[in-house]
Amino acid sequence: MNINEIRHQFPVLDQQVYGKPLVYLDNAATTQKPLCVIERERDYYLHENCNIHRGVHYLSQKATEAYEHARQTVADFIHAKEAREVVFTRGTTESLNLLATAFEHLLLSTPNSQLSIDSQPSTLNSQLKVLVTAMEHHSNLVPWQQMVQRHQGQLLVVPMDDSGTLDLEQYEKLLKEGPMVVSIAHISNVLGTINPVKEMAKMAHDHGIPVVVDGAQSIAHHPIDVQDLDCDFFVFSGHKMYAPMGIGGLYGKAEWLEKLPPYQFGGEMVDTVSFEKTTFNVLPYKFEAGTPNVGAALGLETAIQFLQSLDRDAVEKHETQLLQSAIQQLSAIEGIRFIGEAEQRSGLVSFIVDGIHPYDLGTIIDKMGVAVRTGHHCAEPVMTRFGIPGTVRASFALYNTLEEVEIFVKAVQRAAMMLR
Ligand SMILES: Cc1ncc(COP(=O)(O)O)c(C=O)c1O
Repeated sequence: MNINEIRHQFPVLDQQVYGKPLVYLDNAATTQKPLCVIERERDYYLHENCNIHRGVHYLSQKATEAYEHARQTVADFIHAKEAREVVFTRGTTESLNLLATAFEHLLLSTPNSQLSIDSQPSTLNSQLKVLVTAMEHHSNLVPWQQMVQRHQGQLLVVPMDDSGTLDLEQYEKLLKEGPMVVSIAHISNVLGTINPVKEMAKMAHDHGIPVVVDGAQSIAHHPIDVQDLDCDFFVFSGHKMYAPMGIGGLYGKAEWLEKLPPYQFGGEMVDTVSFEKTTFNVLPYKFEAGTPNVGAALGLETAIQFLQSLDRDAVEKHETQLLQSAIQQLSAIEGIRFIGEAEQRSGLVSFIVDGIHPYDLGTIIDKMGVAVRTGHHCAEPVMTRFGIPGTVRASFALYNTLEEVEIFVKAVQRAAMMLR
């Protein structure tokens, strides 16, 4: 991997903040965009902009073709069986809200709280439960929580140990309580833990329970094969994988997407409409009401092509090196406590330094040019679990360098000295 060449493709990285070269280590929040992605979106608005699917004219057909091509590219990238199993959404949050709402509506139309592809109204179970883990981002917690609470149901939570590793024995026990759906982060955005989602999907399927995988933090770092994971749903955001904001996806096994009712209603998702009755469009359009973000979808396709143009094994190796180097150097800082030390981890390091508020530390190293995130990272229950107000989180992308890691650690050392 030629990092310098790669960095040239990300102009935003080449700037000074407060007179210091920018060291951008907030990639778990959002990644920067390569020129090819920016150009692709620009090009769409310069030459192709048109509303899709509804026009007979040249531009509309061209934009429709490009949009559907992008869908196929996403499907291939995550190894979906068919393009119709990929629904474009605004991102992970919208995908999860879509699922929570669709499952709720399916439940209301099927008096059965434990659903499977062939569940019949006769297998009635009145106690609605959804199973999540103790390390979920609010996006994979609140939609399910609100949904179960509307029905006096219960959110079941898989606990984790002090290293940030899920307790699979407890998981197995909770599965026996018959949750309607299991929804788990592939990689925790606070702890960096890589959860064994393939194994967890198999365990859930043994109980006939469908599995949602929140891939927001995994898709940029690791090749995704939804058929190999055998998850029923996989959700992700484009902006965390070098694509524009406002685009993301929901993969669902076709049988499940066929079974779930639509999430939003309006143009494009319908087949026939009268005042008495509406019938719905086929997959994936049933879930894509209204005008989509076509330009961003094309940008997402270009981001995928950008990733595919690189040696992904080398990228993974490089990112692992960055993480290991950060952990090793940070370990020397007096009073440091890592939050998240699971054996299988990736992409980021979270920590606090004894007696220093993460916010103060983050603010001081910002003035040294280093961008990290501080706070609860939209995962307040994780902070409660570890009894802390927040963490400092440095998260890595393929364009970061070992020199940047060094600058970051030195900045933390200096800030810690100043704040003590
Ligand atoms: C694990 C995880 N899930 C969900 C989300 C929400 O993603 P978005 O804000 O792009 O919808 C994030 C964002 O940080 C995340 O890290």
